[in-house]
Amino acid sequence: MSENMLEIDGLTHSYGDHTVLEKMSLRVPRGELVSIVGPSGCGKSTLLRCIAGLVRPTGGRVVLDGTAIDGVPDELAVVFQDYSRSLLPWLTVRDNVALPLRRRGGSRAERRAAAEEALTSVGLDGAGRKYPWQLSGGMQQRVSIARALAYRPSLLLMDEPFGSVDAQTREDLEDLVLRVHRDEGMTILLVTHDIDESVYVGDRVVVLGRDPGGVRAELPVHLPAPRDQTTTRAHPDFVSLRTEVSTLVRGAAAPTKTVVHE
Ligand SMILES: Nc1ncnc2c1ncn2[C@@H]1O[C@H](COP(=O)(O)OP(=O)(O)O)[C@@H](O)[C@H]1O
Ligand SMILES: [Mg+2]
Repeated sequence: MSENMLEIDGLTHSYGDHTVLEKMSLRVPRGELVSIVGPSGCGKSTLLRCIAGLVRPTGGRVVLDGTAIDGVPDELAVVFQDYSRSLLPWLTVRDNVALPLRRRGGSRAERRAAAEEALTSVGLDGAGRKYPWQLSGGMQQRVSIARALAYRPSLLLMDEPFGSVDAQTREDLEDLVLRVHRDEGMTILLVTHDIDESVYVGDRVVVLGRDPGGVRAELPVHLPAPRDQTTTRAHPDFVSLRTEVSTLVRGAAAPTKTVVHE
């Protein structure tokens, strides 16, 4: 097995004549939690879609576990930004969470038990019999997180997963991701627009830039473990890193190409 879970080489993607990602490369060692930040529209969601096999890139390749991906890989789960379209309204919450587990085999009872356990881990025990539309936006997003966790993927992709939840829940879910990452050794790519969050959860923060989209900076995060919401965020290294990331993201919004006005 390759030491890198994920290898992205010269990845280029254009929508028509709009090139979003240009020859970007990234290596992700097995078990790493990578935070991805960057200005709006720089191609973060496009990148995750290419890795998930949902978008076929215009150029370059994505290698997962030593194999170039072609289609949606089995060992992967995705939590999308748009929770409202990610759950099936005609299934109960528990059945939504249990559905992907069919690919893993096991009995119906085992799948249901795994779904209930995942719902409990996101603070939704007791909501299993409800339908998604009976829940608030933030709760629906927690259901999609539970569904991804129940699947126990070796690679978890999350696209601004906590955007629709309140601040307290957000902190709880950040800590849940840290716990799952530590306990299960999952490799995780988390896209966020929250700079503090990128530093708080990440082993490394990757800053993407725009026009053309690609990696502008990679910063390792060395903060004392275990991290916790109060002491970690007050740590001087946290404060200096978040300032550095913030400056980089602002700089990354500017094009690298020289634009000549005539
Ligand atoms: N399906 C699509 N068709 C055409 N353009 C798209 C499509 N999806 C995204 N884009 C454009 O590509 C750029 C990058 O989008 P996206 O990957 O969603 O960025 P981010 O997630 O960083 O905000 C944006 O300019 C967006 O408008
Ligand atoms: Mg996006």
